[in-house]
Amino acid sequence: MSGNLKFIEDFEKELAEILKTERSLIFNSGWHANIALISTFADKNTTVFCDRLNHASIYDGIKLSGASMIRYHHNNMKDLEEKLKNDNTKKKIIITESVFSMDGDISCLEDIVDLSQKHSALLIVDEAHGFGVFGERCTGIIEEKKLQGKVDLIMATFGKACGVMGSFVAGDSLLIEHLINHARPFIFSTALNPFTVGAAREAIKIIQKERPGKRLIEISNNFREELKKSKISYGSSSSHIIPIITGSNERSLELKEFLFQKGFFCQAIRPPTVLPGTARIRLSLNLLIKEEDLKLLLDSIKEFFK
Ligand SMILES: Cc1ncc(COP(=O)(O)O)c(C=O)c1O
Repeated sequence: MSGNLKFIEDFEKELAEILKTERSLIFNSGWHANIALISTFADKNTTVFCDRLNHASIYDGIKLSGASMIRYHHNNMKDLEEKLKNDNTKKKIIITESVFSMDGDISCLEDIVDLSQKHSALLIVDEAHGFGVFGERCTGIIEEKKLQGKVDLIMATFGKACGVMGSFVAGDSLLIEHLINHARPFIFSTALNPFTVGAAREAIKIIQKERPGKRLIEISNNFREELKKSKISYGSSSSHIIPIITGSNERSLELKEFLFQKGFFCQAIRPPTVLPGTARIRLSLNLLIKEEDLKLLLDSIKEFFK
């Protein structure tokens, strides 16, 4: 109900500083943060424009808020613009992931920023998979595309690149203050414990010192290049998230089992998590995977598709 730890407030200041926002606020998880953000800033008089491939927590937040939802075709700016033009609600929110979690492609954020300004829509970006990887300071796609200051609210989790759990929201002081006073998942749930916050803070210190994103992007680009040479589909991925598209559900399970026999535990992702006919094995590369393991994984995938 009250009180805070100084080191948590210091960490929130550090986060705001590296993201170049006025303030930030720590949440228990990315799921909590998305639910909090959307249900606080949207209500029954709001229309939320949501990329079709956005994460489940975003859909849950919209449902909880009571807002009308308009889904636009994935990363399709023409469709988004058309839908914004045809909507006459006063309160509009656009929400997108920066790196899409199942396809590993990157949102057209420059265009989304333009559209949000043109249509006076609040812009929320989920950087769960961009944070820790993209940009000079590894803060995400907003930094990579030099859009700092043009996104109203940024959400990122500590559960991906930081390897811990928890999350934060960053933005203008007024918006963060509003969250502190109105976000039910923030107010009515025990705050993230100090051990976890400490671990996330350390992880971010390491990321800031070592800036590992560039190397991960390099490795991911090489991996995709090899897949391309063997004509293996990885969809529209341009990040460390690389789907190996098999099409049918059965084939994705066959590939999962094949890789398991080679020593790799990979998950088959099938509809309804992804669109029908696009079942896949989803890889999310990281720098702890040894070079020889990565090579063996690649060779195994190639062998399966031969
Ligand atoms: C894009 C995206 N947003 C939000 C979340 C939720 O984050 P957390 O696991 O911290 O609750 C995830 C996690 O899978 C995600 O991929």
